[in-house]
Amino acid sequence: MADRILTDPAHRRRGLGSVLMTALGDAAAKRGAATGVLVATRDGLALYRALGWTLWEAITPAYLPENE
Ligand SMILES: CC(C)(COP(=O)(O)OP(=O)(O)OC[C@H]1O[C@@H](n2cnc3c(N)ncnc32)[C@H](O)[C@@H]1OP(=O)(O)O)[C@@H](O)C(=O)NCCC(=O)NCCS
Repeated sequence: MADRILTDPAHRRRGLGSVLMTALGDAAAKRGAATGVLVATRDGLALYRALGWTLWEAITPAYLPENE
């Protein structure tokens, strides 16, 4: 599972996210993973789509305020 993938704003769109996600995917495949599942932000979705991932389902985040 990849989580909190982030490229510093000053260095985006230079291929760093792609290199990182490809390395993580390769490492997971070497350990036997055949399927990957990610939850993505808008930026993340754009990156993962560029790397060949497909959108499975749109999700809706929700939270329960503690004191309301
Ligand atoms: C998502 C994120 C990690 C991408 O990192 P990055 O280093 O800029 O990614 P890359 O340079 O490897 O991008 C590769 C391709 O993905 C696509 N892409 C990446 N970010 C994109 C964006 N914001 N909008 C549209 N396409 C995007 C493009 O096709 C890009 O190729 P191009 O620059 O030649 O057009 C970065 O935008 C980020 O840190 N965002 C804030 C945190 C976040 O939302 N993380 C994702 C959590 S799921």
